Amino acid sequence: MHCTKRITDDLIWVGVNDRRLAMFEGVYSVPDGVSYNSYLLLDEKTVLFDTVDKAVSRRFLENLVFALDGRQLDYLILQHMEPDHSAALEELLIRYPDIKIVCNAKTQIMTGQFFDFDIDALIVKEGDTFSTGKHTLHFVMAPMVHWPEVMVTYDSTDKILFSADGFGTFGALNGAIFADEVDFNAGYMNEARRYYTNIVGKYGTQVQALLGKASSLDIKMICPLHGFVWRRDLSDIISKYVLWSSYQPEENGVMIAYASVYGNTENAAEILACQLRDRGVNTVMYDVSVTPASEIIAAAFKWSHMVFASTTYNAGIFVSMEELINDLVAHNIQNRTAAIIENGSWAATSGGLIRGKLEKCKNINILDKVVSIKSGVKAAQLSELEAVAEAIAADFPTAAGPRAGKTSEAAAVGAAAIDPAAMFKLSYGLFVLTAKDGEKDNGCIINTTIQITATPLRISIAVNKANYTHDMIVKTGVFNVSILDTSAPFKVFEHFGFHSGRDTDKFADCESDTRTANGVRYLPKYSNCVIAAKVCDSYDYGTHTIFVADVTESFILSKEPSVTYQYYFDNIKPKPQPAGQTADKKKGFVCIICGYVYEGEPLPEDFICPLCKHGAADFEPL
Ligand code: FEO
Repeated sequence: MHCTKRITDDLIWVGVNDRRLAMFEGVYSVPDGVSYNSYLLLDEKTVLFDTVDKAVSRRFLENLVFALDGRQLDYLILQHMEPDHSAALEELLIRYPDIKIVCNAKTQIMTGQFFDFDIDALIVKEGDTFSTGKHTLHFVMAPMVHWPEVMVTYDSTDKILFSADGFGTFGALNGAIFADEVDFNAGYMNEARRYYTNIVGKYGTQVQALLGKASSLDIKMICPLHGFVWRRDLSDIISKYVLWSSYQPEENGVMIAYASVYGNTENAAEILACQLRDRGVNTVMYDVSVTPASEIIAAAFKWSHMVFASTTYNAGIFVSMEELINDLVAHNIQNRTAAIIENGSWAATSGGLIRGKLEKCKNINILDKVVSIKSGVKAAQLSELEAVAEAIAADFPTAAGPRAGKTSEAAAVGAAAIDPAAMFKLSYGLFVLTAKDGEKDNGCIINTTIQITATPLRISIAVNKANYTHDMIVKTGVFNVSILDTSAPFKVFEHFGFHSGRDTDKFADCESDTRTANGVRYLPKYSNCVIAAKVCDSYDYGTHTIFVADVTESFILSKEPSVTYQYYFDNIKPKPQPAGQTADKKKGFVCIICGYVYEGEPLPEDFICPLCKHGAADFEPL
């Protein structure tokens, strides 16, 4: 019996789940199964996007017949010739001999390799379009994501990207079809990472090329060939692809993989893990003889640091560790710090051999010292392991240790005297912070955007709780920062800084509707750069909330220099008019940030500027 899911008014999922498959591609365990997605577009013409694996082709054909509801199948778009998506082609042609196949030239050649018949195909290339009636399809070549013939298709009518293997995940669909129907981060992100890193992890450059092409498209939905359809929070998965394809880690922490015959190498790895944890460093551990390599490769892509601990075996690296290292090198792991522990009862060689393999990878910083164990860990090695833990912990800004002491010391020194004017010597920038809640766009001025870490790429912003934008970020968890440049006139600061979005639409008069992939607006004018971010942590500091966020997108808009606080005061903010021309010599205070005048004396110590929300310290007498 058919089992289909409706995606949009015109699009039906006719794919099939397989929970009996033990090893995907004969290599990757899929304990939670896998889905082979196929989509049927019902327009003036009927168009099928790819087929499925032969193991599930019967159910697929039932689904297709049901979804067609008596109509003919007019077109099959073959995006990827790997048999998990094309195996049902022959059966399809027998049932629907009049269908026209749409594919690129490489795919046409491959069909002749996989099947004993030729296809009469409509050959498309990069940028070609194809109208099915109401819908216009655009073809985008995506070579090596994951095979050379791969292409993806963009439906500009419904703004859907049919992404082939891209954005896929292991795991069967258990009744749900959309990623937002499940707790994707908790339940499926690990499998999405394992799928990406093992299937296309080697081809980061090619994935980046596809991401670059996709960034110019207005995408509202992603339909991959495996796993869930994305219709909300697309930046959740796109931001991961940005990190994975650039070989940047997602988290600070250490992935420890060990191979141990009698437990002594494992003992050394455990001791190191404890020493790292004592320093506040996150750790995960894998016995390479027990955990499938695909899981460890995914972990290596996730974490910032790697430790390999291996016994020596037949004068080489222990067999399962050697396979893992070979696999990691083949998957192009890059941009990591690594440490090595070796064990050898009479001639330890595994450490040097592991180093030799890792040195083939790009930008892997291997700690000089290899901790070498002869059979079991002895007292001398404890301090060597300690030194490795210390060296790794030194890379982590939040780890406990000597830095914590310095912080306390600095606080003690700072308690002597506080001159608020010192804050103006800080080299602040000025930024338009934007957010979106439902259909409502809003923005405000902030001066507190700071890059915290490079791996992962994280920033922090401090936002006054009185700002409507603050509440929108608390609710939605995403925001954009447009970095204002020196071309920005005072009216920009006035517009975004001195009014509340609760009673005004700050984008009402905007000529263009420019947004990043997270759907949030940015300033295309008067700013030289845009950073889109997703909140990963927040801290309540009374009047302000500090949001810590992962950068999900960033791009340069112009070469104009950024506005600094000093530049704003010197060149943008209107100068106070001579005494006598302003405020009629009234007694009071003027906000040096926005010019608001408080009439009367004294200025209350807890006074907050009703326009720009700065405190009494930012007022001076008229
Ligand atoms: Fe899901 Fe590359 O095939």
